[in-house]
Amino acid sequence: MIVTKLRIGDANTMMAEGGIQAADKPNDSPAIHYLDAFGGGHFAAKPELLAKLVCDAPEAIQWLNGLGVEFDKAPDGTMITTHGGGTSRKRMHAAKDYSGAEIMRTLRDEVLNRGIPVVDFTSAIELILDDKGNAAGAVLMNMETQELTVARAKTVIIATGGAGRMHYQGFPTSNHYGATADGLVLAYRAGAKLLYADTLQYHPTGAAFPQQIFGALVTEKVRSLGAKLVNRDGRVFMHPLETRDVAAASIIRECSDRGEGVDTGNGKAVWLDTPMIEKVGGEGTIEKRIPAMMRMFASYGIDIRKEPILVYPTLHYQNGGIDINVTGMSSCVENLYVAGEAVGGIHGRNRLMGNSLLDIIVFGRTAGRNAAVKSKDVSLGSLTLEHIARFDKERKDAGIVTDAVSPKLLPDYRRHK
Ligand code: FUM
Repeated sequence: MIVTKLRIGDANTMMAEGGIQAADKPNDSPAIHYLDAFGGGHFAAKPELLAKLVCDAPEAIQWLNGLGVEFDKAPDGTMITTHGGGTSRKRMHAAKDYSGAEIMRTLRDEVLNRGIPVVDFTSAIELILDDKGNAAGAVLMNMETQELTVARAKTVIIATGGAGRMHYQGFPTSNHYGATADGLVLAYRAGAKLLYADTLQYHPTGAAFPQQIFGALVTEKVRSLGAKLVNRDGRVFMHPLETRDVAAASIIRECSDRGEGVDTGNGKAVWLDTPMIEKVGGEGTIEKRIPAMMRMFASYGIDIRKEPILVYPTLHYQNGGIDINVTGMSSCVENLYVAGEAVGGIHGRNRLMGNSLLDIIVFGRTAGRNAAVKSKDVSLGSLTLEHIARFDKERKDAGIVTDAVSPKLLPDYRRHK
């Protein structure tokens, strides 16, 4: 049974644009993919998780292709691949600049075709353990009526995604409205270990103008296709395909310490030289390869084929999350599985573009398969929320006094007097 806070498919995956990495070309290999990602993540990834990610990648692409994902292909049927920041080979497979939506369309069809029950507009607000301390279900809340129900489960998979809507450090976000770190909160209170919870990813190129789309994702593929980041004097100040953390830091420095940013009327930004794409790739490249970008800016009268756009980092991804082993199970809570952005340790302290769409497929399938097999051997003990009382006591003993409600479930954008 899938329980989802909003509608099925409301997720950061749906909004993923640039693509999915897999080393499936003759000049590439999972070992090279591993080295790129390990270095990009500051050598902090759990080696066994990253190895699984890169080794399972080529088959993951074939699986998606077989299910009907419309990847960009050359006339002879080979997949078109591009670079992303920090990749030493062109291994980014894409469906134009709506790769995530295309993957989600296909997977959602598969859920419906297989008759998997879906309960929507319902949040998990607490994990339930049994008297052996193993995951045994969740307390669910109907988002419209606030009615509570209990779901008993022999195995539980957390796939609650990221945390952009927490707006850490006051940043805007590229994330969907439900990205409020729910899975991390629930798992931590149930005794799971978190890895690198401090490492948030600021995507270098969030839209900085116009204000209506402040923080919306401008895909890294724009730079893969040849656009450069330039400051107010038109000077290139960094390698166009640096890893994300380095690129974001360079932009922030250009706009703050160096005073080389452009005033947008709503803060500082730098230019992203989109017309260069047409020069590098030929006329029509933008419409063919990044039509969603073109449409988004065209709604505000900006033709990105002719004018550069203004960008600034936006909160995009939670690099850290719940610690798992290669079976997808939490390292501390038996029968609790995790997949996707809620996992920590796959990417280390910084993720490369296109490794997130990959990890949801590789670790989603792993968690699903292993949770299904494991559930055959589980006999649940009696259900308990004793761990919440324990957590509350620890919190009080640590002197943490707060009336914050968690998980937050949805951001609150109302103006409070
Ligand atoms: O820039 C992008 O298209 C984002 C991709 C990603 O986060 O993997």
